[in-house]
Amino acid sequence: MLAYRHAYHAGNHADVLKHLVLTLVLRHMNQKDKGYRVVDTHAGAGGYSLQGEYAHKRNEFEDGVGRLWGRDDLPAPVADYVALVRQFNDGKKLLQYPGSPAFAHLLLRPQDQMRLFELHPTDHKILLSYLGDQPNVEVSMSDGFAAVKKQLPPPSRRGVLLIDPSYEMKTDYTKVLTAVRDAIERFADGTVIVWLPQLQLLESVQLPQRLKASAAPAKKGWLHARLTVARADERGFGMLGSSVFVVNPPHTLAAALKPVLPWLAKELDQTGGAGVSAVETSG
Ligand SMILES: C[S@@+](CC[C@H](N)C(=O)[O-])C[C@H]1O[C@@H](n2cnc3c(N)ncnc32)[C@H](O)[C@@H]1O
Repeated sequence: MLAYRHAYHAGNHADVLKHLVLTLVLRHMNQKDKGYRVVDTHAGAGGYSLQGEYAHKRNEFEDGVGRLWGRDDLPAPVADYVALVRQFNDGKKLLQYPGSPAFAHLLLRPQDQMRLFELHPTDHKILLSYLGDQPNVEVSMSDGFAAVKKQLPPPSRRGVLLIDPSYEMKTDYTKVLTAVRDAIERFADGTVIVWLPQLQLLESVQLPQRLKASAAPAKKGWLHARLTVARADERGFGMLGSSVFVVNPPHTLAAALKPVLPWLAKELDQTGGAGVSAVETSG
């Protein structure tokens, strides 16, 4: 049963980190003319209203993109990310938030392709109506983990795989590792972006180390970028932050993130002094 709805969380600190990294990776891909394919295994609805009952249940976006919107002192990569959110809103007010397919759609060129997988019937329907008729875009209501083997390597041998499960089911942790291994086996120099929650849960704590071991055969190594925004409560519940693990990262990614993440950790801090960040690489 799929209970998770990203609409509750759209635009929160985790989306800021994930979509900032996705934007930097796709900007780098766009530096070469040759087309590439984006495969988004857990695409969500594609875009989210920040007006409705979902977004307002917890107002998570207010402590994420909401803290960056309308500011003129943003570091360049963050300003670029916010400019894309602005483009999606088509105006001065922050009314909706783009999901990963929308960020990619804003950045992809006519020679690029997108393959989107979303299992939730409602989110799949919204995604299909938003992007289903776009050229070079295919939207599928099927298992994104299973799609990895079928989609890789892309015909042009240039591609980006985004793996962004909700981790509501513990099986997601092992499926992520299998998907990363499959991706590297089939496409050893392809870029893979994995989003990871920072929870006080054994599977969550162990996942970065396991990903590093799984990424050992990747031709261009890995990068792990972490953004913590909250302290654990006394029961150990709640998401403290998140991280993004990138296999075969663009060579420019670490240098772009290193000055930005400490700034973001300070700006998105939720519990007074909890905001910390780190960027690690295999090299
Ligand atoms: C964290 S959300 C995705 C958010 C999206 N990537 C973004 O950044 O805007 C995870 C999504 O995966 C969907 N999902 C869960 N299991 C799936 C699977 N095996 N294959 C495809 N989609 C799945 C959920 O319904 C949910 O919409």
